[in-house]
This record gives sequence, structure tokens and C-alpha cells, in this order.
Amino acid sequence: MNLLILGSGGREHALAWKLARSTRVKKVFCAPGNAGTAAIGENLPISISDHDALLAAARAHRIDLTVVGPDDALAAGIVDRFEAAGHRIFGPSKAAAKLEWSKAFAKDFMRRHGIPTAASREFDDFAGALEYCRMSPRWPLVIKADGLATGKGVIIAENSAEAESALRAMMEEARFGAAGHRVVIEECLQGPECSVHALVDGQRALLLPMAQDHKRLLNGDLGPNTGGMGTASPPVRAPLAGFEPAVHRTILDPFLAGLRTDGLPFRGLLFPGLMLTVDGPKVLEFNARFGDPETQVLLPRLTSDLLPLLEATIDGELAGIEPEWDVRAAVCVILASQGYPEKPILGREIVGLDSLRGAVDVYVFHAGTKREVDGRVVTSGGRVLGVTALGATLAAARDRAYEAAAQIRFEGMQFRRDLAAGA
Ligand code: AMP
Ligand code: GLY
Repeated sequence: MNLLILGSGGREHALAWKLARSTRVKKVFCAPGNAGTAAIGENLPISISDHDALLAAARAHRIDLTVVGPDDALAAGIVDRFEAAGHRIFGPSKAAAKLEWSKAFAKDFMRRHGIPTAASREFDDFAGALEYCRMSPRWPLVIKADGLATGKGVIIAENSAEAESALRAMMEEARFGAAGHRVVIEECLQGPECSVHALVDGQRALLLPMAQDHKRLLNGDLGPNTGGMGTASPPVRAPLAGFEPAVHRTILDPFLAGLRTDGLPFRGLLFPGLMLTVDGPKVLEFNARFGDPETQVLLPRLTSDLLPLLEATIDGELAGIEPEWDVRAAVCVILASQGYPEKPILGREIVGLDSLRGAVDVYVFHAGTKREVDGRVVTSGGRVLGVTALGATLAAARDRAYEAAAQIRFEGMQFRRDLAAGA
């Protein structure tokens, strides 16, 4: 089979790496890809927003299956377009992916189907939103842009002055473009966070191992929210026995029932971000795609083939499928550019990649990288590399990931030094 992976991040490199190991896969194309995916198969220099060109490429290269990485491609309807043209593609339709691309839609879905989540209100007028915040008896309040904002459209406001400036930035100054015209204001939940990944075939949900993201830029969970600065699987505070059945009972089962009631066909990867509160797990948000950098710890732990899982999801045949997982832990350290997440500085040469070639149980997933004509690999995005290691314990995986990361250098490189702390 020939596969096409859409996107250019670490998640897509991990998907390409894992799928290329499938005995049934002949060649993996990536559009547009990065320096890491180029070394696995072939990069096609096509933007994921150019649906015509992507379809033409899928035909020209006889692609048997396309896998969508990022949320914006789903929101733009790439799955509908490919399916209408008779191409197999992994990911939910635009209508189903609305659970990610509109937080107001997701909130309404959760309220109607009894899925635990923070209490919230939606506003599309600035004055109404501001008035609601000013009257709030409880602080902090969480203010979210309704649409996609690459993980940055969530502000935790400690008081009404902070709420006002967040609302002004989103609703009046359009900091997140149209994504912020509508906002969701919700109660602030407390507790550790956990990333849940489940393959959903429309009828059933197959839970993957739990992972933990570190979303803040700086050590000690300080600084701005990012797309994710590193992940651990399992999470440091491993979910207690009974957690997985609780996720099925309180979140996935009502989710599946809600799909049926609403006639919403969701086939793809559902990734609810959870807060583990004293009242049980609550959904912070739904994502309709693999997490980045969650994928970079989940796929190295998957010892069986990924391809049949994706195919069964598309075909509604997840029943009886049992993937095999490495019992060892995995930690991924993200190496980010100077200036990330606001204004990453690009074009800096990356050195040390060669020294990790062949390292055992270490995987270097490229994100914002590109290979220049002279062969040098340079930075081309905010998150540059994800260095994943496996280990018998989380502490061993973490130490090995940091040792490997220490081999790599580029000017202004920043990374969290406290990932999986306390493991
Ligand atoms: P989201 O994009 O909705 O996952 O939000 C990004 C981050 O903001 C989450 O990972 C949480 O750390 C934080 N967050 C979102 N919603 C809430 C909430 N209701 N209470 C506390 N923190 C939240
Ligand atoms: N790492 C969080 C996300 O992919 O949304």
C-alpha cells in the first residue's frame, strides 16, 4: 500500500515512522512533511489547505490510504472531500470534527449527553461576556476562544481586569481571528490533567494508553500555554485501578450514545483532554485527532501494527481488535525554538542529530525542521524536535530522553527540564 500523511509536525513524523514499519506498506508520502518524514519516504510540497492539489497527488501516487494529522485540515473538510472523490482517509468528517473546532458545539454536546465537564456559558457579544465576568462570585474564570487557536486560545483570568483584557483581545482585537468572535467562559477546575486517546469507529471506542502532556512553556508549569512541551505515558501520577472503566462509563459510553442520538458519525481518533477532579474525570476539551506530542509517546509503545487499527476504525470494525503495548514507559522531550510560542526564530542549524542514529530505544521525531540543499538541517517551526525514549520505569525513560536531548543543539534551543518530575 501507498500511504499519504497530511501535516508536518512531530505527530506526523511518528505516524509515518510507525506506519512505514507495517509489512503491507510500500511507501509513505507526507504533505508537506519535514526533514524527518523525508528520510522515511517522500515529501510532497503541498499545503494541507490545497485540497485540489492533495487529491491530485493522491491519484498520481496511487495512494491507498490518507491519514490526517492536524485539526485545521479536519475543520476545512479534507475528509469529506477525499471521501466524495472515493479515496480512503482516516479522520472524522467536518461535521463530526466540529466537536474540536467549536468549543461551544462541544459544550452543548456534553451538556445534552451528560458528559462531565466544567460549567460554562457562551457569548458572542463583548458587553454581555464582560458583564457576566464582572458579576462572577468565583475566580479564576477560564476564557476560551470558540474556534481553533493552536492550543493558545485559553486564558485563565484571576480577576475581572484580566478577564476584560482576554475578552478584548479575543472579541475586539481578533487575536485569534474568527476563532475568538465567540467565547466560552467556564469554571476553573482543579486537578492533574490527562490525555485520553480512543479510536472511535462510530459504534465502539478502543482506549489507548493514557498520556500526560506538559502544556506550559516553563519549568514548574509556569509561562504561557503551548501546543505541548513534552509528554509521558503512562502519566506520572498513574491513573488508579478503575480509572479506565470510569472513562468508558462516564465519557466514552455517553459520547457514543450521543453520536447515535444526534446522528453524528464520528470515525477517527477522539482525544478528550481530561482534568482528574475530586468529583471524577471531567472533559476540558475534545480533540478529533491524535495529540502532539502525545503520539510521540504512544506510538513507540505500540508493539503491534498501527495500520489495521486505522483501517478497522474507518470500516467500523474495531470489535475484537486488541493492539499490543510495550509495558515500558515513554517520555518525549520537546526541543523548541527561541521565542516559541509567540514569535519563534527560524532558520537555525541543528547539530548532533547524527550522534543519535541507531541509539537503542530512542526516537528523534522531527517537527519544525527542514533540510537545506547543502544538507544542513535547520529549524523551521516553533516546536523543532521531540526526543522520545523508552525505559523500564518513567524515571529511566525520562533520564534516557534527557541524555539523548543533550546531544542536540541549536541556537536558542529551549526545553522543559522538569518533565515527568516526581516519577
Ligand atoms: P484546552 O485547549 O481547552 O485543553 O485548554 C488548554 C489548557 O487550559 C488545558 O490543558 C488546561 O490546562 C487549561 N484549562 C482549560 N479549561 C480549563 C478549566 N475549565 N479549568 C482549568 N483549566 C483549564
Ligand atoms: N498536546 C495537546 C494537543 O495535541 O492538543
